[in-house]
Amino acid sequence: MALTEILKKMVTRKNPDDALAGAAKGGLEKTLGAWDLIILGVGAIIGSGIFAVVGTAAAGESGAGPALMISMVIAAIACVFSALCYSEFATMIPVAGGAYTYTFATLGEFTAWLVGWVLMLEYAIGFIAVACAWSNHFMQFLKGFGHILPACVTNPPVWLVSDFRSAVNSLTSQGIDYHSAIPYICGIPFCINLPAIAIVALITAILVRGTKDSTKMAAIMVAVKLGVIGLFILAGAFFIKPENWTPFAPNGFEGIFMGAFIIFFAYIGFDALATAAEECKNPQKDLPIGIIGSLFITTVVYVLVALVLTGLQPSSGVAIPEGFLKAPMAYAMTAVGQNWVAGLISIGSLAGLTSVLLVLEMAATRILFAMSRDNFLPQSFQKLHPKFCTPHLLTWAVGIVAVFGTLTLDLNVAASLCNFGTFTSFIIVCVAILILRKIDPERPRPFRVPFCPWFPILGIVCCGGLMIFSMVIAKGESAKLSTELFIAWVIMGALIYASYGYRKNRAAEKSGSLDNNQEKVESLAK
Ligand code: ALA
Repeated sequence: MALTEILKKMVTRKNPDDALAGAAKGGLEKTLGAWDLIILGVGAIIGSGIFAVVGTAAAGESGAGPALMISMVIAAIACVFSALCYSEFATMIPVAGGAYTYTFATLGEFTAWLVGWVLMLEYAIGFIAVACAWSNHFMQFLKGFGHILPACVTNPPVWLVSDFRSAVNSLTSQGIDYHSAIPYICGIPFCINLPAIAIVALITAILVRGTKDSTKMAAIMVAVKLGVIGLFILAGAFFIKPENWTPFAPNGFEGIFMGAFIIFFAYIGFDALATAAEECKNPQKDLPIGIIGSLFITTVVYVLVALVLTGLQPSSGVAIPEGFLKAPMAYAMTAVGQNWVAGLISIGSLAGLTSVLLVLEMAATRILFAMSRDNFLPQSFQKLHPKFCTPHLLTWAVGIVAVFGTLTLDLNVAASLCNFGTFTSFIIVCVAILILRKIDPERPRPFRVPFCPWFPILGIVCCGGLMIFSMVIAKGESAKLSTELFIAWVIMGALIYASYGYRKNRAAEKSGSLDNNQEKVESLAK
C-alpha cells in the first residue's frame, strides 16, 4: 500500500453521528441530574491525591513546602480549561468512551489509539497508584488496633506490604540493610504488597458482578470523605503553628510548579464524568454543571487542606518523617496528639480511596471495551459474562495487570505516570475542540467553551507546560523513572498500533465487520 494511502487510513475519522446513533440504540436509563453528577464527580476526584500524594507534593524532594496551596490553585487552573473542553464535547457527543471517542471523531484512527493507550496510564496505572495508597492507609488503620490485634498483623515485615522500591526506601531510612531484611527467591528479591493485591481482587470481583451506578452509595462515600476532611480542617485549625509557614516556598518557583505537577493527580477523575453522558437526564445542561461544579468544590477543599496541613507540620528544611509522606493528614493529627481524629481520617480515607478505585477500574474497562469494539484489541475482550453481562475477561485482565503493577511500581511513580497520561489526554481534548470548531462548525453545541480559541490554547499551554517542566527538572529516582517509563509507553503504543491495530482495522474493513458490534458496548453500563 502506498505511503499516502497508509497515512490517509491513519487519520480516518469516525463520524460523531455514528457514535450518537449507536448510543441511541443502547437505550440506557437516564437517571442522573446535576447534583448526582456533582456527587459522582467529587466521589471520583477526592482520593489518594489528597490523602497521600499531598505529602510528597509538600515535602518531597523539590516539594512546594507551605506554598503547596499555590500549587493547588495552579493545578486547578490547568484542569479548568480542559474541563470546559470536556463539557463542550460531552454535551455535543454525549456517548461513553470519553477522550478516546472525541479523538476518533476529530484526529482520526492513529491518534485515537494513542489516546486510548495513554488513557490506560490515567485509569489503569492510576488504579495501581490508588491501590498502593489504599494499602498504606489500611496498614496505618490496623496500627490503631495494636492493643487488640497480634503484632504480625499490625506490624508485618515490610516485604509483605510493599513493592520492592518502597521496601528498600523504608528499610534504608531506618538504617537497615535491605539485603538482610528482604527474602530472595532464586536470587530475586521477593516483595509483595498483600493489602494492595487484596483490594484490587475485591474491586475487580465487584465490577465483574456489575455495579449499578448507584448515586446513593457514591453519596455515602462522598459524605464520609468530605466529613473527615472537614473534621481535619476544623480540628487541625486549632493546632496550626504559623512559624511552620516559613520559609513559604523553600524550593522557589521550581518547587511550586513541581508541587502542581505532583498534586495534579488529586484532580484527576472529573473527566470520567463525561463517560456517564448517556445516563444523564439533561446532559446539555447538567454535565457542564457537574464537571465544573465538582472541580470547584474540590479546589476549595484542597486549598484549605494545604493551608492546615502545612500549618500543622513543618514541610521544609527538616527531615520529613515517612509517615507524613504516606498518610500526611492522619500523621499530622497524630503528631499533635489527636489520635481519635487520625483514626477517623484513616476510616474516611479508606472509604474515599475505595470509591476512586471503583471509578478508575470501571473507566479503564470501558475505554478498553470501546477500543476492542473498534478493532484495536482482540474481539474476545468483548465477551460478556453470561449472568452479569459485564466484560469479565477485560475486567480480570485489568485486575491482573494491576496486581503486577503493585509488585513493581511504587505510589509516586504510578501517580506521576498517571499524570503524564492525563496531561496528554487533556491536551488532545483541547486540540480536538479547536479542530472540530473548524471542520464541523455547524454541529449543535449546547455548551461552548468561552473565549475559544484562547481557553483551549491556555489548556494546552498549562498542561503541556507542567508536563515538560516536570520532565526537564525531574529530580530524584522516582521522577526520572516515571519520565522514562512514559516515553517508553508512548513508543510501545505506536509500535503496537503499527503491528496490530492498523492491520486489524484494515482486515475488518475488508470483511465489512467494522461497526457490527455496537450494541455489545451498551450493555457495559447497564
Ligand atoms: N484524583 C484521584 C485521587 O486522588 C485519582 O485518588
